[in-house]
Amino acid sequence: MPQKQKLSPTARASLSSDSPQSHLRLDVLEREVSSRRLFFDQVARTWEEEHSNAEGEFDSALQALVGRFDLRPGQVVLDAGCGTGRLLPLILEKIGPSGQLVAVDFSEKMLDIARKKYQAANLIFCRADIGQFKSPCQFDRIICLCLLPHLPDKLLALQTLRANLKAGEQLIIAHTASRQEVNAYHAHLPQPICRDQLPDSREMTELLVAAGLRLIELEESDRYFLKAVRDEDQVDKILR
Ligand SMILES: C[S@@+](CC[C@H](N)C(=O)[O-])C[C@H]1O[C@@H](n2cnc3c(N)ncnc32)[C@H](O)[C@@H]1O
Repeated sequence: MPQKQKLSPTARASLSSDSPQSHLRLDVLEREVSSRRLFFDQVARTWEEEHSNAEGEFDSALQALVGRFDLRPGQVVLDAGCGTGRLLPLILEKIGPSGQLVAVDFSEKMLDIARKKYQAANLIFCRADIGQFKSPCQFDRIICLCLLPHLPDKLLALQTLRANLKAGEQLIIAHTASRQEVNAYHAHLPQPICRDQLPDSREMTELLVAAGLRLIELEESDRYFLKAVRDEDQVDKILR
């Protein structure tokens, strides 16, 4: 029978990805996060109206995206940066009553709107900075729709998201427009949002690798769609 290897606490800590480190100074990171929170609080009331169109094109784009999330009944899903909750009914429909959905946003105003619109026994709202969100449970899917550009320390955020993902399960980063359109749109918004950019495929791949995630799909067309998987940790394998 194979012998279980014993690891020192230091070795465990160094192998574990559960202690993400920011490359920004904490006070700088906090300023960056709170200025964005202020922005989203200010635009919350009109946000949905400004990001949909009368022809319902946006809704069908959203439906098509959700179809690619590979959601199944009973899954535990995190909607990271849920905003006014546009995705929530679409996710709930796929995971069914046996699934669980956690909707996180740092803007109280965005959450207020989402909470008023959507209620379900298996839907939990949580106000938190996703870059530092430590969930008591791990997820089968983490979905970041139109969120990533707004995270000032993307590596820290991806490490944190990874720690919240079950081994073998998927992180999805999606936009209903192309990367170029997203970046051009943000560039015309006020500070600090004008600096919020979606990285190109090379930088994105590097970030994922550094965060311990493996890219399995990246489509850059008139939409942006990325899927990455959390492989089993070294530590998981050794302890098994
Ligand atoms: C562009 S909106 C997208 C909202 C929603 N995902 C959608 O597509 O309808 C970005 C959302 O992410 C939230 N957000 C941005 N940075 C965040 C952070 N660090 N932690 C939690 N939420 C954040 C904002 O408050 C906002 O609601």
